[in-house]
Amino acid sequence: MKILITGGAGYIGSHTCVELLNAGYEIIVVDNLLNSKAESLNRVRQITGKDFKFHQIDLLERAALDTVFFENSIDAVIHFAGLKAVGESVSLPLWYYHNNITGTLRLCEVMKKYGVKKLVFSSSATVYGVPNTVPISEDFSLGATNPYGRTKQMIEEILRDLNVSDHEWSVALLRYFNPIGAHKSGQIGEDPNNIPSNLLPYIAQVAVGKVNELKVFGNDYPTKDGTGVRDYIHVVDLAIGHLKALEKVLGFKGVDAYNLGTGKGYSVLEMIHTFETVSGRKIPYQIVERRPGDIGICFANPLKAKQELGWVAIRGVEEMCKDSWRWQANNPNGYENTKIFTNVK
Ligand code: NAD
Ligand code: UD1
Repeated sequence: MKILITGGAGYIGSHTCVELLNAGYEIIVVDNLLNSKAESLNRVRQITGKDFKFHQIDLLERAALDTVFFENSIDAVIHFAGLKAVGESVSLPLWYYHNNITGTLRLCEVMKKYGVKKLVFSSSATVYGVPNTVPISEDFSLGATNPYGRTKQMIEEILRDLNVSDHEWSVALLRYFNPIGAHKSGQIGEDPNNIPSNLLPYIAQVAVGKVNELKVFGNDYPTKDGTGVRDYIHVVDLAIGHLKALEKVLGFKGVDAYNLGTGKGYSVLEMIHTFETVSGRKIPYQIVERRPGDIGICFANPLKAKQELGWVAIRGVEEMCKDSWRWQANNPNGYENTKIFTNVK
């Protein structure tokens, strides 16, 4: 079974490549390396002991993508490729709409041409916008609040329309909550280009001494300690979720959305303290104003994924923080100038 993985060199994509290879799938990766390094794929080869094809292609280049489909008999696609920074999407909306939406349109056009109608798509919990209650179920109303989130919401609609036009299409829309952590080997992980805006990579950079202190965005939310609560999910659990979703789209027809989260919420302070415990490093922090656009509390109801995909997240926050720390300590500069520190277990 041959699976095309768009955006496979990125954070979640590279972890999913490992799980697919370990499960015996043949994979082909396309990525323009806009937000990733080819080194991540070398590490995937090292971890799995398996080789695969990589094409440095932009999804917007239809002819190049067409050639990949022409030369390979592809059975299904897992589509990670996209831009994902919320703040950047507010400043550069046209780029985000063009890259994420036109990129998906090109991909679907080529898939249609070659009769490949099975797709797993990276959506996001961000499509729910500001939920009225928690936990969040898939049937909650959608209302993304920024251009990035709107690209995900629009793509979900496009894929539903595609299935209405042709019932042979089979699509899983995976709404991720907050992916963190890294592969146990410490060889692949999240490698943000600049100063990270998400909590865990920021904490990890404070721990390794690249940044002095963390700013905690508000402690006056109606949560256990006043700081924001999120549903953090281990990236390896998330990757396994893709395997389950792939099995589903290969065996059934239709379009369905699934929350991929743990169903548990942790506050910013709880995450800081857990990270301090597992790393043995102090994380200096300062409470500052709320971040504009932030919500107080967000966590999933993951029951549908359990019932329909047979998937449950099993890794807890300690393991997530431990694995993030191992990756960060082994690779303080991400995939560049890597130095392996053997004292981090
Ligand atoms: P990432 O940036 O690490 O990976 C995305 C990959 O897509 C990158 O390697 C990038 O180079 C590639 N890419 C972008 N545009 C492309 C194009 N036009 N053609 C070819 N390749 C292109 O991000 P990630 O964290 O691994 O996220 C993967 C997907 O999951 C994204 O679609 C993202 O929006 C979604 N998602 C991520 C999170 C998260 O917190 N990481 C949460 C929810 C949803
Ligand atoms: C962000 C994105 C969301 C995306 C999600 C997962 C925004 C507005 N939303 O959400 O679209 O789906 O990441 O990638 O960016 N925090 C701090 N200090 C920091 C960073 C974060 O206190 O330096 C707090 C936040 O206020 C929040 C929690 O940590 O309470 C998690 O933040 P973050 O990792 O950015 O994720 P989300 O806010 O869920």
